[in-house]
Amino acid sequence: AAWLRYAPLPGVAKSEGSIPSNIVALNATTTSPVYTAGLELQKGIQGIFGKQVSITHQSIESLSTVVVGTVDAYAQEYGLDDDDTADLEADGFWLSTLNGTIQILGQNERGALYGAFEYLSMLAQGNFSQVSYISNPNAPIRWVNQWDNMDGSIERGYGGPSIFFQNGLIVNDLSRAEDYARLLASVRINGAIINNVNANASLLTPQNIAGLKRVADVFRPYGVQLGISLNFASPQLLGNLSTFDPLDASVIDWWTNITDQIYEAVPDMAGYLVKANSEGQPGPITYNRTLAQGANLFAKALQPYGGVAMFRAFVYNQLNESDWRADRANAAVQFFKDLDGQFDDNVVVQIKYGPIDFQVREPTSPLFANLLQTNTAIELEVAQEYLGQQCHLVYLAPLWKTVLDFDLKVDNQSSVVSDIISGKRFNRPLGGSAAVVNVGTNNTWLGSHLAMSNLYAYGRLAWAPTQDPEAILQDWTRLTFSRDPTVLRAITQMSMESWPAYENYSGNLGVQTLTDILYTHFGPNPQSMDNNGWGQWTRADHLTIGMDRTVSNGTGFAGQYPPEIAAMYEDPSTTPDDLLLWFHHVNYTHVLHSGKTVIQHFYDAHYNGSAVAQTFVPLWESLKGKIDDQRYNHVLFRQEYQAGHSIVWRDAISNFYHNLSGIPDTENRVGNH
Ligand code: GCU
Repeated sequence: AAWLRYAPLPGVAKSEGSIPSNIVALNATTTSPVYTAGLELQKGIQGIFGKQVSITHQSIESLSTVVVGTVDAYAQEYGLDDDDTADLEADGFWLSTLNGTIQILGQNERGALYGAFEYLSMLAQGNFSQVSYISNPNAPIRWVNQWDNMDGSIERGYGGPSIFFQNGLIVNDLSRAEDYARLLASVRINGAIINNVNANASLLTPQNIAGLKRVADVFRPYGVQLGISLNFASPQLLGNLSTFDPLDASVIDWWTNITDQIYEAVPDMAGYLVKANSEGQPGPITYNRTLAQGANLFAKALQPYGGVAMFRAFVYNQLNESDWRADRANAAVQFFKDLDGQFDDNVVVQIKYGPIDFQVREPTSPLFANLLQTNTAIELEVAQEYLGQQCHLVYLAPLWKTVLDFDLKVDNQSSVVSDIISGKRFNRPLGGSAAVVNVGTNNTWLGSHLAMSNLYAYGRLAWAPTQDPEAILQDWTRLTFSRDPTVLRAITQMSMESWPAYENYSGNLGVQTLTDILYTHFGPNPQSMDNNGWGQWTRADHLTIGMDRTVSNGTGFAGQYPPEIAAMYEDPSTTPDDLLLWFHHVNYTHVLHSGKTVIQHFYDAHYNGSAVAQTFVPLWESLKGKIDDQRYNHVLFRQEYQAGHSIVWRDAISNFYHNLSGIPDTENRVGNH
């Protein structure tokens, strides 16, 4: 149930006037989101107030009614003063609790469902205030990606096996898939790509297309559109063609035909997601075609159906570290910048938030400032791949905000990332966000109860990126655990301190996470960063550390930003401390703006970060008896693990750089003494 528990509200009587006694779900067929909204309102009111309320599907004249439906349906039944709803955009809703009647009106059916969830979220938090407002999304694309493999495993999944796949097929029992759609809809996610970007062509067999139809059928009542990842070589792997060249007529026919078959089964499919020419995946470059030609192949097949081709910008090659100017961070702009303007209008380039790979801190990807005639979406990661894999509490919304709020100053004008992905800054028709989530069959979904704040916050920020991460977290806490101020205070403190703590006891100053790069991406392994082709280098030796990404003497990456930002990063004296080692190669004795040396900052941060992680245990223990034992114990186990593992991190990293640099810790904590 996660945050949709609808737990009884203590101290609110059944008879209270503000509790509705009728639900009207207008013009709803049983598979429509408005029908779902009616059921959800019924379930919520039952849970929160213990009151049984009946649902009708035509208008009734009665006080204390909740009416949910589209604006059009409402106008037909009751007549409507347009002023209130005139500014609604697709998926948006109007919510009014004034005058005894609750009006929940969606611009479309999905919007009506979102409004119902909004109203229930207020009730579940004990908020009975009189409100009347409209709410519109920042961007049309608000998707999740699952990296589920056809055999049921999940790449970078930490919550058990897939809820969608098993033994090469779609599972028979899709009740968990339905529950997932419900969770997603409640935070206004409208699309889900259900298979791994490292995709298997066998998803496209007739049997599996029939399975996709079943998934779409359980998603549809929640307004969640199904999408799939494609293997670029499918025409060859599955279709037995001799080529997968995107300009070859037989290949084009093959994809058109497959797309027609899928839309026959799933008429409202969201579209495709494609990882091409990256990490061993096939793609258009295999045939000397451009990435835009590859993307447009799918866009053209999808276009008649209104489908979207999400094309990933995560394209890079292995590099040689002995080349001072080689830089994986340069890859995305190098591959995509010159293609700007060549993508069809239903292509969206999906860009990871930073130029490398979901690290604990990265600068905003400069690709957002280099595609002015292309739709873009940001890719975030709810799955805590490099960030503790749900064994560590790391509340990610503050990290995401550093990128969403970042002003790239394109053409010396305000160019905030959230306005670029919405399409507003460059007048693009499409855009938005995607998050890699990787829920599994574990009954906590992600493997940890507290990690679910990240999924909740992702949806909230995808809808309205200007919201405050702490306020979002507190809504989630009240819905998930309790309105008790002690509970609220403890979970807020732990969560808001968690990302800074993790950054402190892992990789500092923009050097990246310092976790194992080669295999697990878990636990400290600073020595794995260098001397390989992956390009997540630190260039640490006994005197110096950091990547020189300046234009003047380094890889030139800083120059991929618009001039004002480029100038800031070019110069160590104007580069923020938290990204110093991302952009500059300096001595361990280099003095930061904070007044500390780089090496002393490493030592201090590691001791501070792990000390903070120790406090999460007593903070959580202070909630014993205020949270059910099952969830209390589950979380306690993880907090104890994090406390211990943060010490492993602290000592591994501190000792590694102490050994390498030979520079003592002024506090005498590190090394033998
Ligand atoms: C990371 C991750 C891979 C994933 C890749 C991607 O490198 O570790 O498992 O396939 O990102 O985003 O494509």
